[in-house]
Amino acid sequence: MEGYDDATYGDRFADVYDEWFTEIGDLDACVECLATLATSAHGGRSRATPRPLVVELGVGTGRIAVPLAERDLDVRGIDSSTAMIDALRLKPGAEQIATSVIDMAEAMIPPQPDDPAGVAADLVFVAYNTLFNLPDVAAQRRCIQRVSQLLSATGRFVVEAFVPDITPSTGNRVTVRSIEADRLVLVASVLDEEQQTIQGQYVDISEQGIRLRPWHVSYLMPEQLDEIADEAGLELEHRWADYTREPFDSATSAHHVSVYRTSELGRHARRFRRVGRPSSPAGG
Ligand SMILES: C[S@@+](CC[C@H](N)C(=O)[O-])C[C@H]1O[C@@H](n2cnc3c(N)ncnc32)[C@H](O)[C@@H]1O
Repeated sequence: MEGYDDATYGDRFADVYDEWFTEIGDLDACVECLATLATSAHGGRSRATPRPLVVELGVGTGRIAVPLAERDLDVRGIDSSTAMIDALRLKPGAEQIATSVIDMAEAMIPPQPDDPAGVAADLVFVAYNTLFNLPDVAAQRRCIQRVSQLLSATGRFVVEAFVPDITPSTGNRVTVRSIEADRLVLVASVLDEEQQTIQGQYVDISEQGIRLRPWHVSYLMPEQLDEIADEAGLELEHRWADYTREPFDSATSAHHVSVYRTSELGRHARRFRRVGRPSSPAGG
């Protein structure tokens, strides 16, 4: 989409994000599931990082990161939008969360002053279809390659996303999001099935004028995601239908929560990196 870059979504949605998207899924189950995965990946052993280290890609306003940081976890987040990070910073508890404004295709661990050399993450996660906000498969591949380098040897990578169900009605369309006496929000979207992209606009019309809030989705089928993960040295450990760990059904599930861990290929790459680049950020 012309004029759209990695910060556009966040910059145009930051003022309404918490109002429009608070009711997404079961937040308690999400936090519980992610905290359990992080704690078990950390192992409670005497490690370089005393608490499980968790990194959220596309942390946004901290919808998940803020309650997650209330657990005994060292939560950090990256986002390409300064406006989203500014909204996160206004929340109580956000002061514990280290953040970096950066494109998740170049993912890194936001630093804390007492980090040991080669600090590694016990859990990296990307929630609510945010991996699909990357512009194309090449960027998604780069992102997942980076994630596999940031994980500790026992670390996990979690992706929450919708399962594409492309039907004729998914094509170009306009729907009504909300209608009030002095405000109308329409959603227009355009599908490109060959490129696997959906481009959209929330058209927010009020007495004050029109505010355009564009979005972009490069969707992947779960199997395509597994292939990209495999190339990055990660293998699927669990695929659930949601954060309550309901079993995933490829015929009926509309969403998936997929958990990846380092594969044999990844372990080999990790050994090679240790020999070739002793100061690699993978550490762990
Ligand atoms: C749908 S929101 C999700 C926010 C939060 N994870 C949640 O679940 O509420 C997507 C977030 O990803 C950020 N984002 C989009 N593209 C990005 C990119 N290339 N790199 C980093 N962050 C990105 C946006 O700024 C926005 O904050």
